[in-house]
Amino acid sequence: MKRRIALRRYAYFLMALAILCESALLAAQSVARQASDPPAALGDTPTDKQVREKVEGLLRQMTLEEKVAQLSQLPGMDVPEFKENVNKSAEDVLKHLGAGSMLWVSDPKEINRLQHVAVEQSRLHIPVLFGLDVIHGYHTIFPAPIAMASSWDPKMVEEAQTVAANEARAAGIHWTFAPMVDIARDARWGRMVEGAGEDPYLGAAMARAQVQGFQGRRQLGAPDRVLACVKHFAGYGAADGGRDYDSSYVPEEEMWNVYLPPFKAALDAGVGSVMSAYMDLNDVPASGNPWLLHEVLRSSWDFKGFVVSDAFAVKSLVTHGYARDLQDAAHKAFTAGLTMDMASGTYLKYLPIEVQQGRISVRQIDDAVRTVLETKIRMGLFQHPYTDESRLDPTLNDPAHQEMARRAVKRSVVLLRNEGGLLPLDKSGKTIHSIAVIGPLGDTEVDLLSMWGGAVKAGATVSILQGIEEKVGSTARVAFSHGPHLRRNIPSPFENIDLLKALKEQPEQTPQEAQKAIDEAVSLARQSDVAVVVLGEIDLMSAESASRSSLKLSNGQEELLEAVSATGKPVVLVLVNGRPLDISWAAEHVPAILEAWYPGSQGGNGIADILFGDANPSGHLPVSWPRSTGQLPIYYNHNLTQLPETSSDFKSRYWDIRSTPLYPFGFGLSYTTFAFDNLKVTSTAQMGSAIEVSADVTNTGGRAGDAVIQLYIHQRAGSASRPVRQLKGFERVALEPGANHTVHFKLGKDELQFWSPLEKKWVVEPEQFDVWVGDNSSAAMHGEFRLTQ
Ligand code: BGC
Repeated sequence: MKRRIALRRYAYFLMALAILCESALLAAQSVARQASDPPAALGDTPTDKQVREKVEGLLRQMTLEEKVAQLSQLPGMDVPEFKENVNKSAEDVLKHLGAGSMLWVSDPKEINRLQHVAVEQSRLHIPVLFGLDVIHGYHTIFPAPIAMASSWDPKMVEEAQTVAANEARAAGIHWTFAPMVDIARDARWGRMVEGAGEDPYLGAAMARAQVQGFQGRRQLGAPDRVLACVKHFAGYGAADGGRDYDSSYVPEEEMWNVYLPPFKAALDAGVGSVMSAYMDLNDVPASGNPWLLHEVLRSSWDFKGFVVSDAFAVKSLVTHGYARDLQDAAHKAFTAGLTMDMASGTYLKYLPIEVQQGRISVRQIDDAVRTVLETKIRMGLFQHPYTDESRLDPTLNDPAHQEMARRAVKRSVVLLRNEGGLLPLDKSGKTIHSIAVIGPLGDTEVDLLSMWGGAVKAGATVSILQGIEEKVGSTARVAFSHGPHLRRNIPSPFENIDLLKALKEQPEQTPQEAQKAIDEAVSLARQSDVAVVVLGEIDLMSAESASRSSLKLSNGQEELLEAVSATGKPVVLVLVNGRPLDISWAAEHVPAILEAWYPGSQGGNGIADILFGDANPSGHLPVSWPRSTGQLPIYYNHNLTQLPETSSDFKSRYWDIRSTPLYPFGFGLSYTTFAFDNLKVTSTAQMGSAIEVSADVTNTGGRAGDAVIQLYIHQRAGSASRPVRQLKGFERVALEPGANHTVHFKLGKDELQFWSPLEKKWVVEPEQFDVWVGDNSSAAMHGEFRLTQ
């Protein structure tokens, strides 16, 4: 005992010594810095004038190469693309020229070390912005963004990203490459998981909430927040065939009406940076696209922050067949309006040459550098370049963060089916004495985190098996059977990056071995009172560079599910995945289906809370759920250009399946029931005044639960065909059994306008409109109103 106390004292002594040494060093460095370049007197929130003076002071002292270095983001790991261009290590560049930013360094000590290099050894001592993909957490991993969107709870999303920002900042990260707000209507595209789904209105709400969570609601500069970066600008989700990086062809009206609103919402919330996308948009690569980067972003939206390319996207302009060579790529990207080159080193090498040859002016370079320096100054980087490593442990281990993550799981899981009220399961030990947890995702940890969650510095994760064991304690026997291997033949490039190396492939199985694994699971199910079958996709299967031509449950999972169901035991299917899957068989034969998405660090606990009724599911789908892959792309807010399939003649339909989704956008069940009535709508209003809509919702079941009330509209005629329905309002409300609530919505200019392809501008038109209120996009409660001149 005494020995342990002595050891601890010694450890404290060492820590204190380290802190003292660090402060002494910092003091000495700051004295040395003051001697060479007295810093402008910046308060914690510098005034605009102070910011301008500091920027201009620096610009006056900078060489062209130093300026271009500010427009470059250096890779924090070895990448051949950078080496080919720059012929120096990133650290050498840092030392000699400084840099705008560095990415892919997640270790706080290494971040501080590199920052010391930039601040002490580069001539002008300009600190570096450290950037990382903190998409849904750094240490505490929250559910993946598609899950967070399923909560329809922007307040909770903001709180979660506040936690993510706090942890990331404690680790020395200043800048996150999030939120990802790409609208996704095609589930073959693996990056659907990173966004808020298919709808621009819900997408805008989630974009706003995330920016506010990351950056805070006031100006940049809080020590526990990070700079946000809305991405991927724009149209990335419309990739041909759902193939990641493939071309998008999106007409201008669809850009304005569908793909751009979440970006605009992020800008309105004050996002400080934007990331350009990889793909061609209408034959012009997004990273060198003057329409996107100049006309939309700067001219129409007056964006004052800076734009970073996606990784190596400047260099890729050559691959696209858009730039002749790398110098042309640098020219086209820069003159289109792209401020910072991520990781390729193309700007570093070629922008100085462009200036020397008179193709780009120093003034243009200065204008771009200003946006980067301004951001660093406003963020307080010059006063506080380093992270205080002693803040790390208490921040990462704050139990409130895990609580928050568990709460997020409970609010985002979507109950898709619950025949005969199989769920919630009894945990009292009266009716259920044995539980079989079955499936390749039943006892996995990293796969609950999704790709970006696994690529940062995640803390411990609770698997679904662990969550269930913890929940039932000794009241029921819990046993696990894995089923066939799923984590095999992983073609993802991310399998090889350092951060994900820990993930191991499982060996290939012969058909006999796979069948044996199924037989074992079946035998376990037979000996149990209930089977919880956990299936879906490993983390890298729904991610960047992870498109799929089929949404089927792969690698023997469908066979496993059908075999376990054939035992006649009650089966609960829990899906762990990043996109809707083809579950048409399950939707008819498996009584309970729970969509858990990638639920993050507290996945196992949150799902157990739902399975055993300590929480009531309340998530609603942010995407239309297809019956099969052949229905893709599918989205609820389509136009009705052909007769619907209910008509008798020339129907818009497939011969073999219905054209409606399996589950509509906005759908989600609860352990209680809700009734909607008393819809009131202002019947006529003059253009310019708002339409008021109200409705009542009552909890008609026996449990407390949250209802997600959704408002949809349809404009019946106008200068363009309008979608059959469009989400224009929602509210999440908690109701005790028997309680009711009146929800109020206002439909003003923002909700009623659309970008008209005929008029080539935003219009509100004096027309007749339909209104629906309910808890999914097929809601039946209908009203109408007329807008007059
Ligand atoms: C992804 C971006 C990400 C970047 C930096 C790219 O491959 O497309 O979303 O932010 O890498 O890691």
